[in-house]
Amino acid sequence: MKVTRWGILGCAKIAKDQVIPAMIKSENTKLLAIASRDKEKAADFSENFSIERVYEGYEKLISDPEIDAIYIPLPNHLHVPWSIKCVEAGKHVLCEKPISIKSKDVLKLFKAEEDSKKIIAEAFMVRFHPQWIKAKKLIGDGIIGKLTAIQGLFNYYNIDPDNIRNDADIGGGGVLDIGVYPIITSRFITGLEPRKVVSSMEFDPKFKTDILTSAILLFDDIQMSFTCSTQSHLMQHMRFIGTEGRLELPVPFNPLPDEKSKIYIWNDVKHPSENPKIIEIQKSDQYKIQIEAMNNSIQNKAPFPFDLEDSYKNMKIIDAIMNSSKSGKWEFI
Ligand SMILES: NC(=O)c1ccc[n+]([C@@H]2O[C@H](COP(=O)([O-])OP(=O)(O)OC[C@H]3O[C@@H](n4cnc5c(N)ncnc54)[C@H](OP(=O)(O)O)[C@@H]3O)[C@@H](O)[C@H]2O)c1
Repeated sequence: MKVTRWGILGCAKIAKDQVIPAMIKSENTKLLAIASRDKEKAADFSENFSIERVYEGYEKLISDPEIDAIYIPLPNHLHVPWSIKCVEAGKHVLCEKPISIKSKDVLKLFKAEEDSKKIIAEAFMVRFHPQWIKAKKLIGDGIIGKLTAIQGLFNYYNIDPDNIRNDADIGGGGVLDIGVYPIITSRFITGLEPRKVVSSMEFDPKFKTDILTSAILLFDDIQMSFTCSTQSHLMQHMRFIGTEGRLELPVPFNPLPDEKSKIYIWNDVKHPSENPKIIEIQKSDQYKIQIEAMNNSIQNKAPFPFDLEDSYKNMKIIDAIMNSSKSGKWEFI
């Protein structure tokens, strides 16, 4: 059985809480090395997760000839430069979302991927969760009739000045951190791209990051709107509204791996007070499924299910949202 040997750049919270535990559980995966700017931090990770190799500095890890693939959970401004360095060193890359800060930077990744013949994949794990695969099938099969509108919400409250999300210079802000999820999942469900976008954004006076954003995206005749906030009470949902019903994912982005997720469906409703039908989805670790998909692509030379073109399209939408908040006008994509 082939095994993919992984290295990780940086002792990130997302690696500790989700991705390393998922790698440990994943088939055909060996987490071989961790690198940090601080050797002690890496040594702690190595001890906690039994990671064989510890590197002080990311360069040393990427030049380890026994590593096949690198997971990059660095702050957003480092995604593009380190993805390029990794593929140039002959490694496949799974890079955290958002893949870049501006869409034009994804063009550099296209070239690096083509030149190196290695995969660069953006880690939007939600697309691997069975709740999203089921929701797409149900909506595609017409369970809510013709889709007319989508409403998304993703909020948390975080005013920690040391958190990467609250530093505008390194790609902080709510849209890049969480606004990306209602967008990626609306594109996933509809298979469509929005034509134009209008947005309103509020910024923190000290951090200079966006803390409250609402946007409308027109996907053909489907009106999608979402709000995301880094300074509002913790909440998330995605609602899909059709001519004959409504489908809702109450925990669309962070479903717990050891609990069943739920899809709520209202159709044949005679009064808005009626309770939904509930479809239960098996317990699933979306990070584990994502790692296994990446292993499959590497080991079988198969394309990753979502390519850089898809990442580019997503970043074009983010650009338009940022531009619209400045222009106060619809921005075309
Ligand atoms: N897919 C998901 O579910 C999900 C969830 C959360 C976050 N994310 C993404 O994952 C990435 C990391 O997020 P996180 O919350 O895990 O971040 P974090 O805990 O702050 O970790 C980022 C790591 O990057 C390294 N780093 C290098 N240069 C840095 C700098 N200038 N400032 C701060 N850290 C620096 C640090 O590692 P060393 O000091 O060890 O070198 C740090 O531990 C982000 O891109 C975020 O969007 C994804």
